[in-house]
Amino acid sequence: MSNLVIAIDGPAGAGKSTVAKLIAQNLNIVYIDTGSMYRALTYKLLKENIDLNNTSKIIDVLNSTKIDFRDNHIFLDDEIVDDKIRTNKINNNVSLVAKIKEVREKLVKIQRNISKNNDIIMDGRDIGSYVLPNAKFKFYITANPEERGKRRYKELIKEYPNIKLSEIIEEIKERDKIDKTRNIAPLIKTEDSIEIDTTNKSIEEVVKIILNYIEKNNY
Ligand code: DC
Repeated sequence: MSNLVIAIDGPAGAGKSTVAKLIAQNLNIVYIDTGSMYRALTYKLLKENIDLNNTSKIIDVLNSTKIDFRDNHIFLDDEIVDDKIRTNKINNNVSLVAKIKEVREKLVKIQRNISKNNDIIMDGRDIGSYVLPNAKFKFYITANPEERGKRRYKELIKEYPNIKLSEIIEEIKERDKIDKTRNIAPLIKTEDSIEIDTTNKSIEEVVKIILNYIEKNNY
C-alpha cells in the first residue's frame, strides 16, 4: 500500500501548523513543517548580517547549510532552533528568502525525500501544488487577514508589548502578496484541494472536519 500523504497549504496565520500537528498525533504519522525550514535559513542569514537582496551571497550560505526537520524539531546545522525562528523579524523577512529559486530547490528536495518512506502530513504554501502533487489528501486552510493578524498578534504581544494589531495585519497582507505572486511555486489553491475557512472555527472543529473527510474517503 502506498504511504498516506496529506498536504496542508494556506496563507500565514491560518492555523495550518497547529491543525497539522494535531492530525499527525491523531493518525500517528510524521509531521513536517516546511515553513520552519525557510525560517531556519532566514535566521542564519540575519544572524550573519547577510543582505537579503544579495542572492549570490545567500546561495553561498545555503550551500554550506544543513537543514533538517525530524521528531517535530527544526535542525539548523545540527542545532535545534525551534524557538529562535519565531521572531517578528523572521516573520517579516522569510518571504524574501523563500522566493529564491535555489533555496526552494534545496528545501523541496529534502521535503520530498522525507515523504518517500513515511506516512506524513506536510504543511506549507506549495505542498499540494508542487512538492507533493500526488498527495492523496490536499487541504487549503485559510482565514481573513484580520483574523489571521489577530492570531499572530496574540502570539507576539507577550514578547513585543509595543506591537500594533493594525501593523501586524498589514505585514500579513504583505507576506500574502509576496507568497502569492512569486515566480516559483507561489501559494495557490489547487483544484483538487478542499478549502476550509477557519475564520469562525475553533482548532478542534477544523481538525474534526479534516479527520472526518479522511475517514469518509476510505483511509
Ligand atoms: O508557514 P510559515 O509562516 O512558517 O512560513 C514561513 C514563510 O516560508 C512564508 O512566508 C512563506 C515561506 N514558505 C514557502 O514559501 N513555502 C513553503 N512550503 C512553506 C513556507
